[in-house]
Amino acid sequence: MGSRSRAKVRGRLRWRRKPVERQRWRCHRRVVPTNQFDERVAATYDDDSASMFAREVLDPTLDVLVDLAGPAGAALELAVGTGRVALPLAERGVRVHGIELSPAMLRHLHAKPGAEMVATTEGDMSSTRVEDQFDLVYLVFNSIGNMTSQDGQVAVFANAAAHLQPGGHFVVEVGVPRLQWVPVGERFHVFARTEDYLGVDEYDVVTQQMWSHHHDFTGDEGHRSSIPFRYVWPSELDLMARLAGMTLVHRWAGWDRSPFTADSTSHVSVWRLAG
Ligand SMILES: C[S@@+](CC[C@H](N)C(=O)[O-])C[C@H]1O[C@@H](n2cnc3c(N)ncnc32)[C@H](O)[C@@H]1O
Repeated sequence: MGSRSRAKVRGRLRWRRKPVERQRWRCHRRVVPTNQFDERVAATYDDDSASMFAREVLDPTLDVLVDLAGPAGAALELAVGTGRVALPLAERGVRVHGIELSPAMLRHLHAKPGAEMVATTEGDMSSTRVEDQFDLVYLVFNSIGNMTSQDGQVAVFANAAAHLQPGGHFVVEVGVPRLQWVPVGERFHVFARTEDYLGVDEYDVVTQQMWSHHHDFTGDEGHRSSIPFRYVWPSELDLMARLAGMTLVHRWAGWDRSPFTADSTSHVSVWRLAG
């Protein structure tokens, strides 16, 4: 995150007002997801993530998703949030359903114009089932990292596959772990630094657990909050997909379908379910 501007770290800034306890990764045990997006976070989510609502971000995202869902297709968004992607996707003619852990985020989605076009189910994306089949399942804006255990992430892939028609696609957008920025033997990487804000990522390379630490300063006062994630490698995601019966068909550096390279800081990956 080091070279990113403050605007570009909105995916993390949106959480920073809420102190959370660390969730240590536990081997072979599913961690019950904690809702980090309560009303306080949900109320400012759209403003804090304003750049992600920009047409130049959303339009190429929607172009890819519409192509994969097919004309008048059906799509399931895991971790739908306040409907940043789901609402404009429904406007483009795709039938959209969203699963979301946070009741507060769903309340904000339902308060928006056009919300009646998006069906929603409150629940955990690794286990909640919707009685429908979809041409496309997608999980964007780094949200796979909100599952803080490998078992949880594997379960998300299995749940995505369980909702897909044969031949359907699963799309994940997530950052590439920035371990090349962390010196050998160190745990910390400063990803944003301004006069009133310091953002530091902490990596545990043994467990793949990471925390984004957000420090806000007002005068002499400081406030810190820490958000847990599990960082995950592209090849590991491919293996999770294989376990769920899916095969990689695209890996792009972004929604503009540019090639994924050694310099890419994030990726949009597309897997196809057999059949
Ligand atoms: C970064 S936001 C993304 C929201 C939306 N997809 C977007 O692109 O704006 C992450 C979302 O994941 C949700 N979330 C986190 N863990 C979840 C889980 N286990 N099941 C379902 N949703 C979850 C959060 O409540 C939050 O709405």
